[in-house]
Amino acid sequence: MHWLDPLVPLSFGAAGYHVQARRFAPLPNATGRVVAVTGANAGLGLATTHALVAAGAEVIAVCRSPERAEAALGGLDRVHVHIADLADLSSVRALAAALPRLDALVHNAGALLDTLQRTADGLETTTACHLVGPHVLTRAIAERVDRVVFVSSGGMYLSRLSLRQLQSPREPFDGVTQYAIAKRAQVLLPGLYAEHVSNAPRVEVMHPGWADTPGVVKSLPRFRRLTRRILRTPAQGADTAVWLSLAELPPHAEGIWLDRRLQPVAPIPGTATPPASRAALWAWLESHVVD
Ligand SMILES: NC(=O)c1ccc[n+]([C@@H]2O[C@H](COP(=O)([O-])OP(=O)(O)OC[C@H]3O[C@@H](n4cnc5c(N)ncnc54)[C@H](OP(=O)(O)O)[C@@H]3O)[C@@H](O)[C@H]2O)c1
Repeated sequence: MHWLDPLVPLSFGAAGYHVQARRFAPLPNATGRVVAVTGANAGLGLATTHALVAAGAEVIAVCRSPERAEAALGGLDRVHVHIADLADLSSVRALAAALPRLDALVHNAGALLDTLQRTADGLETTTACHLVGPHVLTRAIAERVDRVVFVSSGGMYLSRLSLRQLQSPREPFDGVTQYAIAKRAQVLLPGLYAEHVSNAPRVEVMHPGWADTPGVVKSLPRFRRLTRRILRTPAQGADTAVWLSLAELPPHAEGIWLDRRLQPVAPIPGTATPPASRAALWAWLESHVVD
């Protein structure tokens, strides 16, 4: 697949989902399984939570606002809310300490920002929320979780990794670029965990295509106006994350999942990550992990 492939709008939009969904097997009964979902009160995270509950799972819904969590999830059976901010490392460490043993963890929380913002830890917020916070959480609970699923983005296809940009964004700040690089970095994590973490959980990365969510309404209004008619529902976008959390999977292989099919991670020339950049990313992420 090439980004400029005319089929991209079709495969990333609802039509792509409908074509692929014809071969989807039903999800297994997940009664007794426990799955944590970050950013569970809106958009894809909320759809993921509903689908997991429908399959029988218990869901630990990680949200940053008690009010928004209650409005979206209050009264749902088998959903247990935990308040945490994935961009704040002390909050992430407290979350890690509170989590029970998990069958799966879905790293879904995320935002695309239009201004440069820094966290209490001095990190750029997009990078903290999509990458450093999820890494610190994954490392802290690596021995208590069987599967980890990162929700990346097709937007990463256009970007190559730039650790320098993740650490010190160039100004004027370009939120779309920052987001795409953070999503590119997520794609490298399954391989890095397998390489560096003994007894690593199974780690997979997927992208949801283009789904109509509050995040898209807020951060990409022009894109949404152009694509509104072809966007997926949140449930369609969330399907592969749910499947990766619950289904029996083929042996792990490098790639990013879309509609339960593995796709190449760097089909566009110049976007593959050199070994030295992978190693530098790992060293930087590890510098935030406290033993
Ligand atoms: N929608 C798409 O087409 C699309 C495409 C590619 C990738 N994605 C990815 O899919 C994921 C979900 O996106 P979405 O479209 O569903 O977005 P959304 O509608 O904005 O929902 C994002 C969720 O993440 C939460 N969140 C944001 N920052 C957080 C933080 N620091 N700590 C804890 N929770 C936080 C939000 O909480 P609040 O309600 O409190 O803000 C909300 O629950 C993101 O990782 C996004 O990058 C989406």
